[in-house]
Amino acid sequence: MDAQTVKQNDAQYIAHTYGRFPVVLEKGKNATAWDSEGKSYIDFTSGIGVNAFGWANDGWVEAVTQQLGKLQHTSNLYFTEPCTLAAKLLCEKTGMKKVFFANSGAEANEGVIKAARKYSFVKYGKERRTIVTLKNSFHGRTMGSLSATGQEVYHNFFFPFVGDFKFAPANDLESTLASFTDDVCAVMMEMIQGEGGVMPLDQEYVKAVYDYCKQHDILFIVDEVQTGMGRTGSLMCYEQFGIKPDLVSCAKGLGGGLPIGAVLFGEKTEEVFVPGDHGSTFGGNPVVCAGAVYVLEHLTDDFMAEVAQKGAYLKERISKMKHVKSVVGMGMMLGIELEGYEAKAVVGKLLESGLMVLTAKYKIRLLPPLSITKEELEKGLSILEQTLETL
Ligand SMILES: Cc1ncc(COP(=O)(O)O)c(C=O)c1O
Repeated sequence: MDAQTVKQNDAQYIAHTYGRFPVVLEKGKNATAWDSEGKSYIDFTSGIGVNAFGWANDGWVEAVTQQLGKLQHTSNLYFTEPCTLAAKLLCEKTGMKKVFFANSGAEANEGVIKAARKYSFVKYGKERRTIVTLKNSFHGRTMGSLSATGQEVYHNFFFPFVGDFKFAPANDLESTLASFTDDVCAVMMEMIQGEGGVMPLDQEYVKAVYDYCKQHDILFIVDEVQTGMGRTGSLMCYEQFGIKPDLVSCAKGLGGGLPIGAVLFGEKTEEVFVPGDHGSTFGGNPVVCAGAVYVLEHLTDDFMAEVAQKGAYLKERISKMKHVKSVVGMGMMLGIELEGYEAKAVVGKLLESGLMVLTAKYKIRLLPPLSITKEELEKGLSILEQTLETL
């Protein structure tokens, strides 16, 4: 099918929820994609932090297709190997105790919200159910996760939202602690606010809130949907903050390109859910979990050290480029602020020149595949440099 027909079909038959760039992607290998006209692009997006090992990674494709030829789906009424292996690896690598598999980040967040409320209900009764999240956060687009999202712009049209969420200002310890009234059962935060503009939290702030929560049996929930799975140079970003959360949500990079979400339960919460409390038809799907097993097995300490190095290199190179005001983030999750230019004005130009990037608020956001090669990095950086030169 030619590119024009694809675009026409999209316009006619797909709900208009996305603003797309005028490119029809056809195939990819690691961090290089080709469109339907044969033009190539360097990928600094990994499908918004999903393709941890890039496109069409040989080992990942083999793991997924082998499973596809055996059992594509079974329902959760039976045991299957891939989801137990993925859960075992997640627990062994994080020290968390149990896993519930869902299909997306928003769904994983629905799971942590339900688990936190049940934990508190059983122990303290139904009045202790408020969850504090942070202003400028993003937790997803389902009703619960949207209600947890601390950005006014998302709180439109779809009333009524799920009640009993409160929003505290990020990095403001006094106000955050003041929000912990008797009705609060949990606090939930991203270590780096991704959609909020790649805004890392302060270490001292996170640790102080965490310590307070520990003392008061307020569950500490970390949303690692964007920051997790090696993205910031450690398996989970919270490891770099010296904390051990009670509940963690992850998704995106976990499946390496297949839809998955996961709730990780710590010591306090591992027994919260009993049969009937929560479920998902597709959660723990064997094909998707075979992809996750591949990803988890290959996120070794050495590999993540390379992610940290590549991230530091990107930061250093980009900081010196024309019009760049600042580069913030950790590992390969970076936000670039330009002097005098909004990111949106630049991403189209970069794409025309063969580089795919993202935006987050007013910043250019980079989430390259963790497996990007030095050569691909250099190509991408030189396109970025040249494009910024000509602004
Ligand atoms: C921190 C965070 N939480 C949750 C979500 C929602 O994930 P999904 O789009 O898979 O539902 C996102 C998506 O960008 C995210 O960045």
